[in-house]
Amino acid sequence: MPLHESKGDSVAGPTSAPDLALCPFHDDRSHAQAGGRKTLVLTGASRGIGHATGKLFSEAGWRVISCSRQPFDSRCPWESGVNNHVQVELSDHRALPGAIAEIKKRLNGEPLHALINNAGISPKASDGGRLNSLTTSIGTWMSVFHVNLVAPILLSQGLFEELKVASGSIVNVTSIVGTRVHPFAGTAYATSKAALACLTREMAHDYAPFGIRVNAIAPGEIKTDILSPETEAKLAPIIPLHRVGTPDEVAKVIFFLCSSAASYVTGAEVPINGGQHV
Ligand SMILES: NC(=O)c1ccc[n+]([C@@H]2O[C@H](COP(=O)([O-])OP(=O)(O)OC[C@H]3O[C@@H](n4cnc5c(N)ncnc54)[C@H](OP(=O)(O)O)[C@@H]3O)[C@@H](O)[C@H]2O)c1
Repeated sequence: MPLHESKGDSVAGPTSAPDLALCPFHDDRSHAQAGGRKTLVLTGASRGIGHATGKLFSEAGWRVISCSRQPFDSRCPWESGVNNHVQVELSDHRALPGAIAEIKKRLNGEPLHALINNAGISPKASDGGRLNSLTTSIGTWMSVFHVNLVAPILLSQGLFEELKVASGSIVNVTSIVGTRVHPFAGTAYATSKAALACLTREMAHDYAPFGIRVNAIAPGEIKTDILSPETEAKLAPIIPLHRVGTPDEVAKVIFFLCSSAASYVTGAEVPINGGQHV
């Protein structure tokens, strides 16, 4: 597991065997493997950042309950995927109560250790251009806000009791565009992500008395289907690390936030952008 390797190197030096007892990620994995298996609900698990996140948690011994519009794809590398998959259209808030009931059925009274609100949409104009505050239709505003903001609110509320029992944590996936105008991402997307960042702060406050931590991660440019084709060539030169990121680099930060290593972290929004925010 890459997280072990880096911790081992920094603690014990490259020539010594890594001291796994010192590694908080290892503690989480041994707990998961010792009968107290942890469970994660993950939206947008079918592709990109969500897929990498499901893979990482699954490798660490977690049970992954995935949600997306598509049926489960048997090529996904986590066990009993079909039984742990809930098909849902997150742009339709009326579909949420049914999906939450399905998730609870699959949990079968077991606690929920993490909810990752990762699914998101970033519509473009038909020619691929940016939809700005003059050109975005009401339908686009509504669908973007429903998937990117309302669904995280309803899922978090609906799974509150299961998260409370586990002293679990929620991670909302925001974006660097919540704080600046972007050449490709549209206005509805940007404002939905700014609202999700604000929601994270509000939820961290409201859920803390119940032992539930709520954080956000704000990716910059990560190589997935959501990126416009020109993004990498146009933006890599001005990113301090001179490259776009990979989905697994985002998944590792989400994993950290859901682990006991982050037990005193709540209400944070962690940038994952190669230094673009500086
Ligand atoms: N990639 C980046 O550079 C970047 C940067 C900043 C923030 N983000 C954020 O990171 C998150 C993941 O992005 P990504 O790049 O991995 O995107 P992606 O590759 O386009 O994947 C999006 C995921 O969301 C699901 N989804 C989309 N619409 C849905 C709906 N109406 N109902 C249910 N599920 C839906 C998709 O599943 P189905 O198609 O199967 O439904 C898919 O699994 C998003 O919130 C995005 O805004 C990404």
